[in-house]
Amino acid sequence: MLRTFSRWLFSFTWAYLGPVVNKQLQQLKKKLFDDLPQNASILEVGAGYGSNFAFVPRTTKRLVALEPNLFLIDGLKASAAKGGFENIEVITEELEVSLLPSNAFDVVVRAPIDVSVFSLAIVCADLHACALLGQ
Ligand SMILES: C[S@@+](CC[C@H](N)C(=O)[O-])C[C@H]1O[C@@H](n2cnc3c(N)ncnc32)[C@H](O)[C@@H]1O
Repeated sequence: MLRTFSRWLFSFTWAYLGPVVNKQLQQLKKKLFDDLPQNASILEVGAGYGSNFAFVPRTTKRLVALEPNLFLIDGLKASAAKGGFENIEVITEELEVSLLPSNAFDVVVRAPIDVSVFSLAIVCADLHACALLGQ
């Protein structure tokens, strides 16, 4: 119940704050995403409303978004469609409980997410395992 409320609250506030933060980080994001390889398989962990999809190279062959907050999913899919990624795969799980395949992604993009310090090492190891290039 509390979790549902906090997720709703996040979705409500992030709908306003997200675009402000995104505007501030626009140049930096562009620079970072411009460095991504073409035709890559990309996993974004904590994709939110999908504000990063505007920077993902159009040639990306597979885009997977991990986002546990169900209040964000419609917006995330709308951003994906707007960016030309209608085939996005959405996983509505937390990173620490998701069973991501090993060596499946060329690049993992990770937002600051809520994990306990205890699970942080596991999460980092998991992310490293599912990225081919370690990017
Ligand atoms: C600061 S927001 C960033 C959203 C988006 N990447 C952006 O730049 O606008 C962090 C996102 O991570 C998600 N998140 C939080 N904990 C997570 C976890 N344990 N596993 C996966 N995603 C998580 C939240 O639901 C939230 O959408």
